[in-house]
Amino acid sequence: SQDIFTYDPGYMSTGSCKSAITYIDGDAGVLLHRGYAIADLAENCSFLEVAYAILKGELPNQAQKEKFEFDITRHSMLNEQINFFFRGFRRDSHPMAVLCGVVGAMAAFYHDSIDINDPHHRMVASYRLVAKMPTIVAWAYKYSLGQPFMYPQNKLSYAENFLHMMFATPCEEYKVSPVLARAMDRILILHADHEQNASTSTVRLAGSSGANPFACIAAGIASLWGPAHGGANEAVLQMLHEIGSVDRIPEYIKKAKDKDDPFRLMGFGHRVYKNYDPRAKIMAQTCHEVLNELGVHDEPLLKLAMELERIALEDEYFVSRKLFPNVDFYSGIIFRAMGIPTQVFTCLFALARTVGWIAQWNEMLTDPDQKIGRPRQLYIGSPYREFVPLNKRA
Ligand code: SDX
Repeated sequence: SQDIFTYDPGYMSTGSCKSAITYIDGDAGVLLHRGYAIADLAENCSFLEVAYAILKGELPNQAQKEKFEFDITRHSMLNEQINFFFRGFRRDSHPMAVLCGVVGAMAAFYHDSIDINDPHHRMVASYRLVAKMPTIVAWAYKYSLGQPFMYPQNKLSYAENFLHMMFATPCEEYKVSPVLARAMDRILILHADHEQNASTSTVRLAGSSGANPFACIAAGIASLWGPAHGGANEAVLQMLHEIGSVDRIPEYIKKAKDKDDPFRLMGFGHRVYKNYDPRAKIMAQTCHEVLNELGVHDEPLLKLAMELERIALEDEYFVSRKLFPNVDFYSGIIFRAMGIPTQVFTCLFALARTVGWIAQWNEMLTDPDQKIGRPRQLYIGSPYREFVPLNKRA
């Protein structure tokens, strides 16, 4: 628990930090954002309400909520010049590569106007990033299809706008189902922040040198991409397709337990949770709701995932190591049912996590104890030795 962490500013330079944003009790499977339980937030809030709380510390009242929604909506367009960045990529580029490149390039458009020591400037940069991520992700997808970019519509909510930009075309409007928009809101909430995970620590470490926020978020995107982290949602779908049928599950459980086999059960296990990831429970429930809404009643991948979970949770190897499904285990099945291609899954994770990343970046810059990050090492190399000239080396 938090009280065993004796706070010492020297720790700050090793990448450890103090934060008031998210609290996790891994043994109890508890996740709080600004003190609110994730289940309460997912059930009762829109993503922008939770984003407001994560960024500013309190859930908004009605007036604050409306002002925040207005401000974010009106920052959702991209500088038209950025449009040309997309055209530099191959059409078959992985959308995470495009996301990383375009967000990093935002530094060339918005960085000069930012003094990161000015709280107002930091909040404007934060709003820009939260507002523009859905546009960038949707445009990366449209670019891969060779379809024209769809511009954000101010009359739509954050989740509705994203689905509109993803699936509408100039020839045909995309009718956003309220159930799918609500599900998308909830999924984004489940991914919004998660304490000092690998990508958030990457953003903090990059930001501790005074780097601009767009470059820091691009670094976070790069870290999230890995299959051990945010890339797991894409890897879960690939794993389920590879398993193919329920009768092949034992073969893959055996592989996952084999020390000599690099295969791991994707979507299972967690650095912190040694209990069921509270987000996974809500994700599984959302998965059933979305499939019902879409009239998909016998999704084979869902049946496979549920049987895989049942078998793993009865297996001593997983039980003894307290390995449970994590946030990534069911999310890909929902995204696929919504028509989102597998390669875009991690982009959605990055879209949502931008709120947590930028809130933690802001928090770090307001901390007077914060120093430039300098993680420690245990030196295991050669002791001092005399120099050997080239003509004397074996
Ligand atoms: C995310 O940090 C965060 O908060 C991340 C995240 C967030 O919101 O930011 O929650 C998002 O990244 C979730 C995790 C997504 N990744 C995956 O689903 C990939 C599969 N999971 C594993 O790669 C693994 O569980 C990790 C990377 C998530 C955690 O790895 P650890 O820290 O090494 O796990 P551990 O120390 O708890 O492992 C204990 C044992 C080890 O075996 P032994 O040495 O005891 O014999 O369990 C084994 C591990 O090999 N193990 C697994 C396993 N996960 C751990 N064995 C098989 N399949 C797995 N999935």
